[in-house]
Amino acid sequence: MREKIVAGNWKMNCDLAEMEELLGGLKNKAESIPSDVKLMVAPSFTNLYPAFQSTKETPITVVAQNMHQNENGAFTGEVSPSMLKSVGVETVILGHSERRSIFHESDELLAEKVNTALKHDMKVIFCFGEELKDRKADKHFEVVKEQLQNGLFHIEASAWKNIVLAYEPVWAIGTGETASPEQAQEMHAEIRKMIAEAFNQEIADQVAILYGGSVKPANAKEIFAKPDVDGGLIGGASLKADDFLAIANSY
Ligand code: G3P
Repeated sequence: MREKIVAGNWKMNCDLAEMEELLGGLKNKAESIPSDVKLMVAPSFTNLYPAFQSTKETPITVVAQNMHQNENGAFTGEVSPSMLKSVGVETVILGHSERRSIFHESDELLAEKVNTALKHDMKVIFCFGEELKDRKADKHFEVVKEQLQNGLFHIEASAWKNIVLAYEPVWAIGTGETASPEQAQEMHAEIRKMIAEAFNQEIADQVAILYGGSVKPANAKEIFAKPDVDGGLIGGASLKADDFLAIANSY
């Protein structure tokens, strides 16, 4: 049985007081979430430690939005895996489209980040997805396959226990243009085929694949009902406790 995960990517939002208010709203109603749904939140670096402290006795997992590929050194402004683990964070989002487009993170760099995270036995939420021009050119499967092959498929078969995938079509992120449940299902099923070919069917069947891109309380139920969708990576709607909980309760 695959994990069901609803993860909130807060991006560059929430100062300390806003984080405490948002987490407070989630903690008060955390018991309303189905027991088989794993709830995760990804605050900014400055909020990780207080968020970890605040959620220790709850079913909420705190996740980092990024991480450097090196262990330490002269990388001003960066955060290492051991720093994340020292504040209780064991899961990291890598390859988000904003890291790829705004901060120019290549597939090769992301492969290095994946290796470092796995070396520290961290769980990785690996993000990927096509741009609108790729889909319009009917190249979306090809683009996604390349992102996976160049950024992730070098790992050992045994490492897949630490991997969660997040398919986020760039044209759906922050736009309100959600992929249809059918589009999400088609791509997720295709991704499992890619994994089965590159590794084996057991891994393909076991890995959780989240959908991200304008998931809202109004559309989550239909998307999550698809057989190859195992939850969502939520941006804007995760910044409102009631909306995020409504999405988590969409199973
Ligand atoms: O990582 C999730 C995020 O990119 C999706 O954002 O605002 O479209 O839910 P949003």
